[in-house]
Amino acid sequence: MIVVGNLKMYMTYEDVLNYKDNIPDDVIICPSSIFIPYFLNHNYQVGIQDISMYDLGSHTGDIGAKQAKDMGVSYTIIGHSERRNKETDEEINKKIKKALENNLKVILCIGENKDEDKNNKLKNQLLTDLDGVDLDNIIIAYEPIWCIGTGITPTNVQIEDTINFIKSIVNDNFKKSVKVLYGGSVDKNNIDTLKKIDNVAGFLIGKASTDCVHLKEIVDSLR
Ligand code: 13P
Repeated sequence: MIVVGNLKMYMTYEDVLNYKDNIPDDVIICPSSIFIPYFLNHNYQVGIQDISMYDLGSHTGDIGAKQAKDMGVSYTIIGHSERRNKETDEEINKKIKKALENNLKVILCIGENKDEDKNNKLKNQLLTDLDGVDLDNIIIAYEPIWCIGTGITPTNVQIEDTINFIKSIVNDNFKKSVKVLYGGSVDKNNIDTLKKIDNVAGFLIGKASTDCVHLKEIVDSLR
């Protein structure tokens, strides 16, 4: 099972120093970009939480895919719902292409709000975000927005059905099979239930991943 920790903007410098050497092997950890050098050269992989859609140049505040790759970053999250209010699906599509050109693997987040037509929203996100993209190095993370940081998760049946829907959209339109993660309020208390979902390839974990003991409990339950 793939385990990704999205540390968001939770940690101080001191937190990072106490955390970075105590992360379980083989997970993918996505720290705030400014701390990435502290996470390199461990037995886990490092991802960046977002990436520029541009090549190197005059883009103040952006981090380029080439810069991340050269530093030793292996993955990038793209399209997290906490960023989607600042970017369009067309821009997300450009970011994905830029990441892949620079040999970063992509974790593409998609998900719906409670009041939205789920299938329509997910389909539109997939078709625009993945347009003209080679899917070999793409992992999809299904993160229903109403489950992020709320302590709520859908039922296993709901998640399984949605993952099947995502896989069928990708298969019908791009003729490829993709791995799909689930994210949204995953923690040590619900992982034993969530891991029973047949078609889930792993989990994208926010808050619970910022505590390395908590993260290890989740990882241990999955291995
Ligand atoms: P939480 O696990 O804190 O709900 O966050 C999920 C998430 O947004 C991971 O990208």
